[in-house]
Formats: sequence, structure tokens, C-alpha cells
Amino acid sequence: MKGKYDKHIFVCINERPADSPKGCCAAKGGKDIRFEFVKLINQHGLKGKVRSNKSGCLDACELGATVAIYPDGFWYTRVTTEDVPEIFEKSVLKGEPVERLLATEKTWQELERIKNKL
Ligand code: FES
Repeated sequence: MKGKYDKHIFVCINERPADSPKGCCAAKGGKDIRFEFVKLINQHGLKGKVRSNKSGCLDACELGATVAIYPDGFWYTRVTTEDVPEIFEKSVLKGEPVERLLATEKTWQELERIKNKL
């Protein structure tokens, strides 16, 4: 079975009130990050092959902004707009992870520790 897109980038843009202890990806640049991906997709003529979608909460809020790329299953945390060109180059064009941002078991353990303190 083949999906409609070769790569699907989900960028969390979920928004919470400013006093929310969880924080949110909207406050950490989620919308700008998505826009940067859209720009690169268009610049590379990949519209229709690669899709950058606004996502609701991906449940990694405390470590946002959060980006997930499929079908590879790369999850990135603490993403900023400055990271987008590297993620695009490596993960979208080459299918390789950006190790310094890639979520690992350690990332999810850190997330659980933070959540347990809230
Ligand atoms: S608000 Fe972005 S992961 Fe929850």
C-alpha cells in the first residue's frame, strides 16, 4: 500500500493559555516552523510529494516544538526555525535522521520526569 505522499511532516501548532505549566508548541514557534517546511517543499518542487501538516498536540509539549516525519517515524523535539533546513535536507530529502534533535528512549524518559513534576 502506498500513501498519498512520500513524506509527511507533522508540526505541532497546538496553543495553550500562557500560564499553562505544560507549555505549547505554538508558543515555541510551531507555526513558523511549519511555514519554513512549506517554503522548502515549494522551493524544491515537492508539492504533492511532501506534505507539511499542522498538527494538534503530539503529547511532547514540555519538549516542544515537536515535529514528526513519516513514514520514517523520526520524532524531533525542541525544534526551532533554525533547525528546519537541516531537518529538511537530511530527513525529507535523504531519509536520514538529524541525530542531535532525534527523540530517543532517553527523550521520552526525560519527558516523563518533567510530566511527573507538574
Ligand atoms: S503542544 Fe505540541 S506536543 Fe503538545
